[in-house]
Amino acid sequence: MLIELQEEKVFKDPVHHSIYVQDMIIWKLINTPEFQRLRRIRQLGTSYLTFHGAEHSRFSHSLGVYEITRKIISQFERNGYADWPQEEKLLSLCASLLHDVGHGPFSHSLEEIFHIDHEQWTCEIILGDTGVNRVLREVDPQFPAQVASVIRKKYEKPIVVSLVSSQLDADRMDYLLRDAYFTGVNYGTFDIDRILRVLRPYKGKIVVKESGMHAVEDYLMSRYQMYWQVYFHPVTRSSEIILRQIFRRASELTQTGYEFSFMLSPIRELLSGSIALKQYLKLDESMLQTTFGQWADEKDELLSDLCCRFLNRQLYKYVPLIEDDQNWLDNVRQEWKKIGLNPEYHMEVDTPMDSPYDVYKLGALPDGKEKPPILLLGEQEELTEISVKSDIIRSIAGLHRGKYYFYYPEERVLPHAEKLSSETRRMLSI
Ligand code: NI
Repeated sequence: MLIELQEEKVFKDPVHHSIYVQDMIIWKLINTPEFQRLRRIRQLGTSYLTFHGAEHSRFSHSLGVYEITRKIISQFERNGYADWPQEEKLLSLCASLLHDVGHGPFSHSLEEIFHIDHEQWTCEIILGDTGVNRVLREVDPQFPAQVASVIRKKYEKPIVVSLVSSQLDADRMDYLLRDAYFTGVNYGTFDIDRILRVLRPYKGKIVVKESGMHAVEDYLMSRYQMYWQVYFHPVTRSSEIILRQIFRRASELTQTGYEFSFMLSPIRELLSGSIALKQYLKLDESMLQTTFGQWADEKDELLSDLCCRFLNRQLYKYVPLIEDDQNWLDNVRQEWKKIGLNPEYHMEVDTPMDSPYDVYKLGALPDGKEKPPILLLGEQEELTEISVKSDIIRSIAGLHRGKYYFYYPEERVLPHAEKLSSETRRMLSI
């Protein structure tokens, strides 16, 4: 049931120029407190410490994903493709708009520490006692459950799921373009208008007309470049390490009954390991940064130091590491203790492998977690996996060149350089 707005609403957007809202339900969803909260959460977490332009919010990304989905459906409708289930338009638009509504502040770092699952929060917001739920119920009492099943990738019509979540979906197309724009990098762009023109609904899937292969090559190259140059940037990883350490330390202190000089109740619940939806929705990045500002004066020296580092961007230095040099790491732990550092905090080995961003992979794994590959639709209606026809994609598909890096507070190590073993000095180039 689409109820049109009397007058179309238009959002100006640096990536898509304009975002058009024609439906009353979409307009009402955008105006819920839960969706407005996304204005206070950055799309790229701590990346603004590496790329100062990366201040864009999950609000702008969510609107962008909605707009791309709207354009794809509009193209399907204009061409009258019989394989597109027209009755699913509103469901697809709502799921696109709401797909990230459960993200919390600095979510990738916090998810790791507190085992938070943003997809689960998204579904709780859609199904729970929220403004979003009330708007969705205006469509039909069953509608919130349908939107949640698209988010969980369980909806009965996979074509709807693949609009929001596949190897070539509205989510990725928006975040690649948006993240490239706001970080200011030159790679990362591709011809989205061309891609939107060559998408086809075909037997329950979304496929690409073969003539559009080169536009998809550009998109996958952009994804490859952004993956290594932006998402895995070692300076960003360093800031994520500090952030995770702040929360690790604060959790440890909570467990020992430490009395914080400053504590807000949503953060207390977060640290205690069980946070209710109402409190979760109060968390945002300004609240965390205000807290770090206060904790910079905590009497716990470790917590205070970590908060100062995060706020003032005094990050850990990094050096590349040979994969599993456990002997050296054990030695460093001992050496760190000797020079008064805490090996639980003042050293960390990181590999980008555990990041949520992934490169293009050829086939679905048996566990069903992998997204299906991109298929080209030929003249004779035959489907071919794209890397079979594209040399470029074949050469980058599934490539992982994750490096190990060793992170440490350089300015606290350097004064003790003469006390370190020659091997450690060589590894750290000091
Ligand atoms: Ni997203």
